[in-house]
Amino acid sequence: MATKNAVVTGANQGIGLEIVRLIAQRPDVRTVLTARSEERGRAALAKLQAELPPAAAERVCFAQLDITSRDSIEGFRQWAERELRQVDVLINNAGFAYKGDTWGVEEAQTTINTNYAGTASVCEALNDLVPDGGRIVNVCSSAGKLSIIKDAALRDRWEHATSRAQLDELTHEFIEGVRSDTYAQKGWPRSMYGVSKLAECQYSRILADELRPRRIAVAAVCPGWCNTAMASFRGPRPASEGADTPVWLAFQPDSEWEWITGRFWKDRKEEPW
Ligand SMILES: NC(=O)c1ccc[n+]([C@@H]2O[C@H](COP(=O)([O-])OP(=O)(O)OC[C@H]3O[C@@H](n4cnc5c(N)ncnc54)[C@H](OP(=O)(O)O)[C@@H]3O)[C@@H](O)[C@H]2O)c1
Repeated sequence: MATKNAVVTGANQGIGLEIVRLIAQRPDVRTVLTARSEERGRAALAKLQAELPPAAAERVCFAQLDITSRDSIEGFRQWAERELRQVDVLINNAGFAYKGDTWGVEEAQTTINTNYAGTASVCEALNDLVPDGGRIVNVCSSAGKLSIIKDAALRDRWEHATSRAQLDELTHEFIEGVRSDTYAQKGWPRSMYGVSKLAECQYSRILADELRPRRIAVAAVCPGWCNTAMASFRGPRPASEGADTPVWLAFQPDSEWEWITGRFWKDRKEEPW
């Protein structure tokens, strides 16, 4: 019987869907496949349930969640409180990237709103439904490592940021740099996705510190270059391989929480931020 609940964001396709498929194999876990589109989410759930053994199919359900919508996050929170009571495992997988060399202020804002601010808003909204000893896994990216910032002073500010307000300020500076076309001389890379993922990574590190007193492990993970829509189906890895480390982190034994938390992971190994 399912005694734990797992919530996966952006799970109607790609790595998120494979994360749900992997967790569904665990008899003790009920998994919520969430998606911003009710139609795409329900279609993905129906297809997945048809592919799973009946007992596993019964342990998976759908709920709508658009991580950039305040109303949607609040609606999901109320649903989760009522239907799940607690979220033992939260996997923030939803993410977005423009294709090719798309570049602009609105585009930078949208990318940051989704990958960083959306993820942070979901964590903040669900945080108190995660029990002591729970797990939060953020699917970040190696594209968001500190080394993408070549300017030492700017990198130092990222590395030593201790609050969401400081991260908001840094992402705002990037957007203003894009607006005035001064981003390069101020030390920023030409990557909206990279900066959004850097902010998501650094937020994960800060959240891990905040939740340490409750023994909630918060881990950041890179799934590797996967064969998904985001990667225009050119990645060499199947999405199921990208799902492996997030699920592995989410279900490490309780005794391992301190080893997991506040770290960046790839292929079941720790890497520098
Ligand atoms: N693929 C790679 O090589 C790679 C490498 C490093 C990191 N990642 C990260 O891995 C995660 C999964 O990516 P993927 O490769 O599986 O890409 P994907 O197939 O494009 O899936 C992304 C998922 O996120 C959802 N999403 C986007 N915006 C959302 C929002 N506002 N609210 C809720 N869901 C939203 C998408 O929903 P729709 O279907 O409605 O668009 C989709 O379900 C992302 O965080 C990505 O940055 C991927």
